[in-house]
Amino acid sequence: MSRVLDQAETSCRTEKIKKIKLGLNVDHVATLRQARGTSYPDPVVAALLAESTGCDSIVVHLREDRRHIRERDVFLIKKAIKIPLNLEMSTNKQIVDIAQMIKPDQATLVPEKRKELTTEGGLDLIKNYAKVERVVKKLKNSSIKVSLFIDPFKQQIKAAKDLGAEIVEFNTAAFVEAKGKARAEKEFQKVKNACSIAEKEGFFIAAGHGIDYLNVKKIKQIKELQELNIGHSIISRSVYIGLIAAVEEMIDLLKASN
Ligand code: PXP
Repeated sequence: MSRVLDQAETSCRTEKIKKIKLGLNVDHVATLRQARGTSYPDPVVAALLAESTGCDSIVVHLREDRRHIRERDVFLIKKAIKIPLNLEMSTNKQIVDIAQMIKPDQATLVPEKRKELTTEGGLDLIKNYAKVERVVKKLKNSSIKVSLFIDPFKQQIKAAKDLGAEIVEFNTAAFVEAKGKARAEKEFQKVKNACSIAEKEGFFIAAGHGIDYLNVKKIKQIKELQELNIGHSIISRSVYIGLIAAVEEMIDLLKASN
């Protein structure tokens, strides 16, 4: 009898195991701080709370215009947390110098435009090959793991491989913004196929952009997906229910079997 119970408990636990890691992007905690030029809310505190709630990594984007995250945040978060810090960044020389000084565990190269509300589109590795190659080399020389944020296309995955990146993060914007079921399904299939190609190439596979408490249920069905990087939806929900509860809800969704 007790063996039967043990087995039941084990299978229940296996079903609830979180297969996809959660990287929490705390940029928008800093957005709120910068709106008033106060010292609060502090993304460092948010990162520590997220760590103690079960997040697997913390993500920050040090933008060239410093509209939210500042050097001080990256520096202090790196010192404060034990889980990996993933620094989103452009290929700008000053930002690369800062990354080499702070040495986050991982850097994710993203395209950056001054006027955009948030990152728009993946980094075009074919168009920017030489520049990205130089930056990837510098980051790797500083023992920083490199991730490339790309659109879910075969040519981009192939370029990421040639560039020597260890991680690819697929841009889910087209999927989450698709109007209508058929369009969303088409975009979902593109991400799914890209994950399957990336797995064959030996990449650690992440995805992100616009993932929320509803669309996560679909995206987590991709079996090759190893990590989701989520910011806006979780930080927004934390305004109503608190950061710990908002993170817990997302982790529960990542654990649930469907
Ligand atoms: N991944 C990357 C590469 C991003 O640029 C962003 C936005 O900063 C995210 C994930 C998180 O996107 P969101 O805030 O929409 O969840």
